[in-house]
Amino acid sequence: MPVVGVAAAGADVPAPALPGEHFAAALVSFVLGALGLALVASDLARGLFFLPRVVAVVHLFTLGWIVTSIFGALCQFLPVAVGRGLRWAWAAHVSFAAHVVGVGCFVAGMASGRPALVLVGSAGLAAAFVGFAVNLAATLAGVRERGLTWWALCGAAIFLVVTPAYGVVLALNLDGGQLVGASRFTVVAAHAHVAIVGVVLLVMVGVAHRLLPMFLLSHGASERAGAAAVALLFSGAALLALPVGGGVTHAVAGALAAAGVVAFLIQAATFFRHRRRKAIDPGMRLAAAGLIGLAAAVALAPLALSRGLSDFGLLSTYFAVLLGALSLFVAGHHYKIIPFLVWYHRFGPLVGTRKVPRIAELYSERVAHVDGALLALGWLGLCVGIYTGQAEVVRGAAVALALGAAVEAIVLARVARRRIA
Ligand code: HEM
Repeated sequence: MPVVGVAAAGADVPAPALPGEHFAAALVSFVLGALGLALVASDLARGLFFLPRVVAVVHLFTLGWIVTSIFGALCQFLPVAVGRGLRWAWAAHVSFAAHVVGVGCFVAGMASGRPALVLVGSAGLAAAFVGFAVNLAATLAGVRERGLTWWALCGAAIFLVVTPAYGVVLALNLDGGQLVGASRFTVVAAHAHVAIVGVVLLVMVGVAHRLLPMFLLSHGASERAGAAAVALLFSGAALLALPVGGGVTHAVAGALAAAGVVAFLIQAATFFRHRRRKAIDPGMRLAAAGLIGLAAAVALAPLALSRGLSDFGLLSTYFAVLLGALSLFVAGHHYKIIPFLVWYHRFGPLVGTRKVPRIAELYSERVAHVDGALLALGWLGLCVGIYTGQAEVVRGAAVALALGAAVEAIVLARVARRRIA
């Protein structure tokens, strides 16, 4: 494992507590989200994705698991990704606290039907998103070498501000607002895709551009597809974020975003093809399952979004495929980043002075492989159960997913507690 990049960035690497607190909170949210899916299994099987309790569970995944993991990964890897650590580490702790309180209040408020708590949560989330965006922008402003990852993160910083604006408008609308029926759905769909394309996917493309070659020991791959992915995703999210424009604008934005995802998938496949080690470790295998899911979501999107409210089942299935795919990609990276983080801070400094374990020896690869299969099969079962309208299948799959999430959390918590004997 090449720790050279990180060693070179030595001074800027944050204390492990900063990424660590993000990853710990994210893993707790992953487990709670999967358990929540079991509780709303009947609603999902009937395609009632817009019910407040379902929206609560969705945001345990989107905000609690995916976005918190993204914040943590950026705290850890900005020195590798752009050669400079976050501008203000203290501010990242503050935005973390606002984010966690925001997620807690938002989810509890949605689940218990208390609009005031939803608004408090939305305000906390808005403060966290904007705070992190400012911290990220201040970091990027000081970077001289402005490559693909730099541009992707610049774009993400912009949509970290746009996303809460949509979120707060929707939260305000929940309590007797003007947006109802098709117009509400149009804004919800725009909000969800601006967040997913403009924040999640842009960060995934930017960071994966550094991490995938590093984790796969992949050299010599062309990077053109990655550059196209950043430009297409940014333009698609920007067009989608415009508060004006009808069906044509949304269709063009959707086409740009879909082309951006395809370009990213081509880039990722190129990295996998150029890898030096033929065997694929559990983390990268799970990430690959996520990428395959992303391809399925792109294929499903035109039909699901054009049918819209006339086919609740297909729409719910589409969101499950898309959010599940992103969740598997993130789960795979947790299996890579956390052992790396622990090794770098605990064992790295001892190299040459005594025998230290290799990163892959910090946890059981067999257990991680089985866990990966459990997560992937759980997600697959969830999508099939929602599409076929079978609540029992959805519930069983959600339990498998919760078990998979709990095993990952336990394995990584044990890694985090490893000390030199
Ligand atoms: C900044 C914080 C956010 C706030 C305050 C927020 C708020 C909301 C609200 C109130 C709804 C429900 C709207 C309705 O049913 O009328 C909603 C739906 C949704 N949001 Fe967010 N959101 C935020 C961030 C995100 C992020 C970052 C993502 C994705 C990565 C996301 C994905 C979604 C999805 C997929 C839906 C549709 C869920 C469903 O109907 O089941 N949200 N959001």
